[in-house]
Amino acid sequence: MALLNILRYPDARLHKAATPVTVFDDGLKRLVRDMAETMYGAPGIGLAATQVDVHKQVIVIDASERRDSLVVLVNPEIVEATGISDIEEGCLSVPGIYELVERAERVKVRAYDQNGNALTLEAQGLLAVCIQHEMDHLQGKVFVEYLSQLKQQRIRARLAKQLRKSA
Ligand code: NI
Repeated sequence: MALLNILRYPDARLHKAATPVTVFDDGLKRLVRDMAETMYGAPGIGLAATQVDVHKQVIVIDASERRDSLVVLVNPEIVEATGISDIEEGCLSVPGIYELVERAERVKVRAYDQNGNALTLEAQGLLAVCIQHEMDHLQGKVFVEYLSQLKQQRIRARLAKQLRKSA
């Protein structure tokens, strides 16, 4: 297993759209293991392959309190979305920034696991928000891009300052 490097907003590679997985091989299983280890180590509750510069439709999530419920979604598709969530979200690619974005409160998702088995998942609350957030990553969208231009500028300035401090 290996810890993967997480791209930081506003890295242009975060804007690449991911392509569907067509082969469920050992390479995919390794990617999922490495992504899960990277997410748990960060620590975070979700990670999209886009964030580790792999442009395949793969997501790992664990929104449970005990950190023992790994969800792997390959080629996810939302087939139903209802309600409006009021949960603030953050992102491992945008460290230290938490904002409210309009998301559905409940979603029904069709996807595959890393072995190629089809699955349907009904999620609500934090898990539902997380799924929508990670699926945006696969489209090349980072959550702060829902905010006003002014807010995005401020966030970029704050992140640049953080980077200078840690350098
Ligand atoms: Ni994110």
